[in-house]
Amino acid sequence: MSSTIIVNRQNGIVELCFDRPDKKNALTTTMYEAMADALTDIAGDPSVRVVLFTGNGGSFTAGNDLKDFLANPPSSPDAPVFRFLRALASSPAVLVAAVSGPAVGIGTTLLLHCDLVLAGESARFSLPFVNLGLVPEAASSLLLPRLIGHQRAAQLMLLGEPFDAQAALGYGLVNKILPDSALAAAAWELAGKLAAKAPAALLLTKKLLKSESISVADRMIEEARDFRAQLDSSEFREAATAFFEKRPPDFSGKPKDC
Ligand code: COA
Repeated sequence: MSSTIIVNRQNGIVELCFDRPDKKNALTTTMYEAMADALTDIAGDPSVRVVLFTGNGGSFTAGNDLKDFLANPPSSPDAPVFRFLRALASSPAVLVAAVSGPAVGIGTTLLLHCDLVLAGESARFSLPFVNLGLVPEAASSLLLPRLIGHQRAAQLMLLGEPFDAQAALGYGLVNKILPDSALAAAAWELAGKLAAKAPAALLLTKKLLKSESISVADRMIEEARDFRAQLDSSEFREAATAFFEKRPPDFSGKPKDC
């Protein structure tokens, strides 16, 4: 696939690998489209039991591609990013992620939809939505407080400060930490173990574990409304411009030449 998502299929496992290492695997519209299509196909293919998310080049993903978001803000519920999120949240397959390096924004929020998460020692998670003048997505405003409690979720989401693999293990966001060099093999071994289980029992159990799916879908709609509005805001424009100009953003509202 030319989208910079590599799709590998074998023995009931589909690996979706973010492959844009020069941009820390930041996710473009085309990449979301490829993943939404792949997850939709997988949902209709009972031979697939496990989806494995990985990133190439020492990064999981730097999250949404900010240039792409500035140029092509997702303007409708059918935009690829929202199609991807719905397909992710409703995927019947067991979702496994292997995270090393940066896992920014959606790189962390997509993990809340995964069933098992392995982290390399270099994994560094962050939820910088407010720092970017944006709001959380992927129903993370619902799922993160549920997982770790309101105050800890508020700390991560309001301050947007990065946290490491050890902290993520403590939060219950990841199952296990491994040396980076052992991560890929461990992830494939885990995926293989899952794919060899009794398939109906495996997929039914995953479905039962995800029984909150109705409120998740509603929350994604609410978040998407606010996220789209914030993408149009001067706050996001300032944050993204500041990132590329390598300076801190200025949210004071003062004219820039003051
Ligand atoms: N969108 C677009 N480009 C991005 C990007 C993103 N989210 N994240 C990184 N890049 C690009 C950088 O602009 C840089 O491109 P260049 O080589 O043409 O200058 C390249 O990827 C490498 O990034 P760099 O910042 O030099 O790497 P780093 O190792 O110092 O830091 C991150 C890695 C992920 C911590 C840092 O790039 C970052 O904070 N990215 C923004 C993350 C973000 O805000 N995502 C949106 C969440 S909604």
